[in-house]
This record gives sequence, structure tokens and C-alpha cells, in this order.
Amino acid sequence: MPLADRIDQAIAHIRPSLSEQPDIALILGSGLGGLAERLNIETSFEYADIPHFKASGAPGHTGRLLFGTLAGRKLVCMQGRLHNYEGHTPDEIVFPLQVMYALGARTLIVTNAAGGVNLGYAVGDIMLISDHINFFGANPLTIGSEQGLGNFVDMSYTYTPALRTEAHRAAEALGLTLREGVYLGLRGPNFETPAEIRAFRTWGADAVGMSTVFEVLAAAQRGMRVLGLSLITNMAAGILDEPLSGEDVIRTSKIAARDMESLIIGLLPNL
Ligand code: HPA
Repeated sequence: MPLADRIDQAIAHIRPSLSEQPDIALILGSGLGGLAERLNIETSFEYADIPHFKASGAPGHTGRLLFGTLAGRKLVCMQGRLHNYEGHTPDEIVFPLQVMYALGARTLIVTNAAGGVNLGYAVGDIMLISDHINFFGANPLTIGSEQGLGNFVDMSYTYTPALRTEAHRAAEALGLTLREGVYLGLRGPNFETPAEIRAFRTWGADAVGMSTVFEVLAAAQRGMRVLGLSLITNMAAGILDEPLSGEDVIRTSKIAARDMESLIIGLLPNL
């Protein structure tokens, strides 16, 4: 079924329950779902109940689409996201983003848990994403040719400079250190090898993770403003002499998520 028709069906399910349209779409990454508890929820939907949404099966992710207010802003929030390593296609992964856009959201805040590649980073750091490297070997915009949305999307200013300035301001006001760097996204689900991490560092990557890039590509195609934040839950493979585990990533992100939550709440009124 064409994308436009799938979007219409999802919206027909959601819109009757909404009193206002959301301005900001927020995607919560691994272990970062706690921010949803701070939201004044007006309406929520299980992904499984929304036409054409796929359920999120990743650890640390629940699958709910929430509508409400936070820091005075009208938000639609994905509590739990879909990953390529779960077998979801790029098209399926960005479908919720397409629906949030169609419902009125014109700003995307996207969060994730990531491994620190930059040797100057430490576990618990927050990194503002300045740019990304798509190392998935896949791209959701290939559906664009079919949908006539146009494929040659300019990615020069994708992580909106004005929003990055606001993020730095909010971090300063809160006394939080905010790193800024390049996110390299890849499919996973294995952690990278130490050799891969060394290679990625020479490419200019500061953090590595298994999400975000597809949603940002779809948002860029739609002309949305984008702000991306990575929580450094571990140093990437080979940097510290210790094994990596998915459970540790989620545990650390839950502990360190509070600063990320404060930053987003501090930032929202100025977006
Ligand atoms: N690699 C890839 N994805 C991740 C990592 C990592 O080290 N940490 C959290 N997500």
C-alpha cells in the first residue's frame, strides 16, 4: 500500500482522540523512556494498535506513542523505537516519524544510547549530534522515488544549527557538560570490533550506535528541524579493557538519563 494511504489510516486511528496537534516529535532511545513519565499525557496508543506500526521488541524499549505536554510544549513522544537489527525495514522504522510529521510535528528531538568513540569522552557524557555517518548500508529514502518525495535531500544542515545553539545554552544554564560530535549509525546487533572502532575514529566519528540515522533522514526529507542527543552509555569496543554488555548499556542509560531529561526539559521552552 502506498505510504500516503498507510499514513492516512494511522492518522484516522489517532486524530479523533487528540484535542490539539503536536509541535514537537520526541523519540526516546534505549533506557531513556523515563522522560515519558514527566509528560502530562493526554492520550496514548500502543504501537500494536496503530495501523501499520510495528511493535518494538528491543530491550529497554516499550512501544507506546504518547501525546501530551512537557515544559509547556505540545509533544508526540515515541516511548520505544524500532531498530534495523530487530529485522524492521528502514521503511517500517521511519513510519512513526512520517505519522508524527503528518499530525503536525515540525521539530524532531531524537535521543539514543551510544558508545563513545572519541577518547576524550566518558561514560555518562551527553553528546549533541552535529552530524552523522550512515553506515547501515540502507536508507529509508529509497521509498521516496516511489512516493515522489524527491531523493536528493541536502544533508548539509540536518542537525539544525539554531537548535544546537539552544542546546548549548540550556546545558550551560543547568551546569551540564555537553559534548558535540558525529554519530555513526550501523545495523548491529553485535557491538563493534576494536578494529572497526579504530577505523570509525579516523573517519571522524565520536560516537557509535544502532539507531537514529533513518529517522533523521526521513525528517530531513520532510524539512523538519532536528536536534539529536546521544547518551554515552559505554566507551566503544577496545577503548577500555573490559567486556561490553547490552544489560550494562541499559543500566547505565537509566542512571545517566536524568541529566538528559533535565536538558530536554530545559531546552523545550526555547525551541
Ligand atoms: N555500539 C553500538 N551501539 C551502542 C553502543 C556501542 O558501543 N552503546 C550503546 N549503543
